[in-house]
Amino acid sequence: MSVGVLFVCLGNICRSPTAEAVFRRQVADAGLAGRVRIDSAGTGAWHVGKAPDVRAQAAARQRGYDLSALRARQVHAGDFNDFDYLLAMDRDNLAVLQRMAPAGARARLALTLDFAPTAALSEVPDPYYGGPEGFAQVLDLLEAAGTGLLEELRGRLT
Ligand code: 4NP
Repeated sequence: MSVGVLFVCLGNICRSPTAEAVFRRQVADAGLAGRVRIDSAGTGAWHVGKAPDVRAQAAARQRGYDLSALRARQVHAGDFNDFDYLLAMDRDNLAVLQRMAPAGARARLALTLDFAPTAALSEVPDPYYGGPEGFAQVLDLLEAAGTGLLEELRGRLT
């Protein structure tokens, strides 16, 4: 049995590709790489085909995550049945997913930070128009959420 997780933000060039890389490493470190399928997508289409924002790549690289091979794509209806979890970075994007969801879809829709209940925030702030500290905060939040999500998936996979 395997589990699929799709991280979703607005552009798929800052937060969700970072989430994808962070969680991929956490899953690999837990020895579950073959059991969890991880991807990311944006609700918007402006950046489709582009690599992650250079500032997101730089912040991630400082913690050993390589985002360079990732390319932005937009969420599509098939994602709601291809994945078990669609995890949005903020309430705006969660609302878009809730409106898009086909009737009877398999995926559970939630906020990514639902898996980091002790974090100070419930949404991952959009770092696009801010400075480098925003990108470091994104990494802090996503590392915390990934830890909680991994615990939930361990329960499903064992
Ligand atoms: P993301 O950040 O949703 O974390 O990828 C953004 C990227 C691009 C834009 C906004 C947010 N934009 O307005 O183009």
